[in-house]
Amino acid sequence: MKIDQIKKEFPIFDEKIQNNDLVYLDSANSSQKPKVVIDRINEFYTKQFSNVGRSVHYLAVAATNLYENTRTSVQKYINAKDKNEIVFTKGATEALNLVANTLGQKYLEEGDEVIITELEHHSNYVPWHFLRKSKNIKINFAETNEFGEVPIENIEKLITAKTKIIAVNHLSNVTGAILPIKEITQLAHSKGIIVVVDGCQGAPHLKIDVQDLDCDFYAISCHKMYGPTGLGILYGKKKWLDELPPYQGGGGMIREVKKDRISYGDLPNKYEAGTMATAQVIAFDQSIKFLEKVGIENVIQHEKELIEYGQEILKKNNSVKLIGNPKNKGGVLSFTIEGVHPHDIATILDEDGVAIRAGHHCCQILHDKLGIPASARASVGIYNTKDDLDQLNESINKCKKIFDL
Ligand code: ALA
Repeated sequence: MKIDQIKKEFPIFDEKIQNNDLVYLDSANSSQKPKVVIDRINEFYTKQFSNVGRSVHYLAVAATNLYENTRTSVQKYINAKDKNEIVFTKGATEALNLVANTLGQKYLEEGDEVIITELEHHSNYVPWHFLRKSKNIKINFAETNEFGEVPIENIEKLITAKTKIIAVNHLSNVTGAILPIKEITQLAHSKGIIVVVDGCQGAPHLKIDVQDLDCDFYAISCHKMYGPTGLGILYGKKKWLDELPPYQGGGGMIREVKKDRISYGDLPNKYEAGTMATAQVIAFDQSIKFLEKVGIENVIQHEKELIEYGQEILKKNNSVKLIGNPKNKGGVLSFTIEGVHPHDIATILDEDGVAIRAGHHCCQILHDKLGIPASARASVGIYNTKDDLDQLNESINKCKKIFDL
């Protein structure tokens, strides 16, 4: 599929938003959905609906097969060794909570240390904070440098004999820095430390090969990856998923339930309690197929050109201050305009149909470090074009005029 035809696959771009063509620059928050994904949800509910993994009637068996097909597609897409290393969750947030909670129960003791970075969004900080409260563990923050990167040395110098886990994002949703996960994993594993990767922004923009990265866990947000909301994926190495306790109790995750004892199901059922987001899982197969059709190499190249172009024009725009200038950058262009609150920027841009996000982007730690309460952020997806970034720049100029800048 040619990159310039991709926009046509997303029905939302046929809509007028407040009489404007939509310039959607908020994909880091959530991406738009291609027609194939929307249609698949409709088709499943219309013609094929049943719960999965329970009944033996035709529809139930067929739905279970479709559900498991997506697991296999995800396994192949991220190159996991075993399909049972793929656990469906209700989001990346739940995936990260699952990891922190179960590692905390089984593996962490009072005084143990977890390293995260100043770039983490709240989903990869708050679950570890819970363990600070319940287990008295210590969290150490690897610092960002002036480019908005976290050099591996800043992680390495925090490692002590008590460090048990390093939990880092793959791609920062504020500075766009791409972290050297493979190197972090090599370093961590040489010292017996577990690596958890928050792949919320990594998975939509980068080629993910979990065997090559060798991370122990990798969390994915499906709605940022052209898929449905209410769905996340946790990849975990089989040895960990086998060893760790279940996260939630309920139907589907048990083997045998007696008054005096309960045993749990095999992987991945052990971690999939209750009725799952069946339609979303089945439709997510179409997101994967869509990305495969476009080709991840094309996605990477296209978005690289967009980000370079966006940086170039915004750097030339007086009073716009870009946040973060990492060498290895993807996905996002965060910025401030001196004298204008980011919410005012976003509101004025919205009048032209330019949808961006303003706020702390669930990264208060980083904004504190930058000494600002909030920033504006334009983030790209495969449907964006350089015209979208020209429109962004034009609307920023309109905003500056309103504020006499
Ligand atoms: N969804 C959040 C974002 O916009 C984390 O980056």
